[in-house]
Amino acid sequence: MSNVPVDNGRRRFLTAATSVVGGVGVVGWAVPFIGSWNPSERAKAAGAPVEVNVGKIEKGQMIRAEWRGKPVYIVRRTEKMLAELKLADVTDQLRDPNSEEAQQPSYATNFNRSIKAELWVGLGVCTHLGCAPTYEKDTMGERVKALDNGFFCPCHGSTYDLSGRVFQGVPAPLNLMVPEHSYISGDRIIIGVGPDASGGKA
Ligand code: FES
Repeated sequence: MSNVPVDNGRRRFLTAATSVVGGVGVVGWAVPFIGSWNPSERAKAAGAPVEVNVGKIEKGQMIRAEWRGKPVYIVRRTEKMLAELKLADVTDQLRDPNSEEAQQPSYATNFNRSIKAELWVGLGVCTHLGCAPTYEKDTMGERVKALDNGFFCPCHGSTYDLSGRVFQGVPAPLNLMVPEHSYISGDRIIIGVGPDASGGKA
């Protein structure tokens, strides 16, 4: 079990140090942005479920994990953030507000697109050409009227709400993907294994 190198110079996002135990990647508490990965650790983790401690994520905070070589965003949304997801002024502008496209497991087809309302787990991979959207906390109003929080893709300007639902009129064609995941305790989730397979609970 060994930790990966950490780039302490970037502090906008917190992310997780990852190790591999018995074939399952285990992500401990969040540390500042991972700037690079040890290839051997990446190779070990590729394809394996990743366990993440979400207990210390503060309200309004996002951390990043990595699963199958892709960034996974985990956001603990505030009550205000959750209320924004239901604003008619906002949902009327969404391309797939009811998650009818196959971009999430069935247990994440609610407006939260999550198992527990406050905790959103989604791939940080824009559905246009795969750039990493930025987390716009309290700054989304510059891009979408009536919305304070969401995601913005800097590559070609796609916008998403804080459930990863894409807005109309942008290059991205689909909502951000929600990966299979489940809770193995109140503070720990596992990415890559759904509730039915793991016995995890909501
Ligand atoms: S890759 Fe995100 S808008 Fe093009």
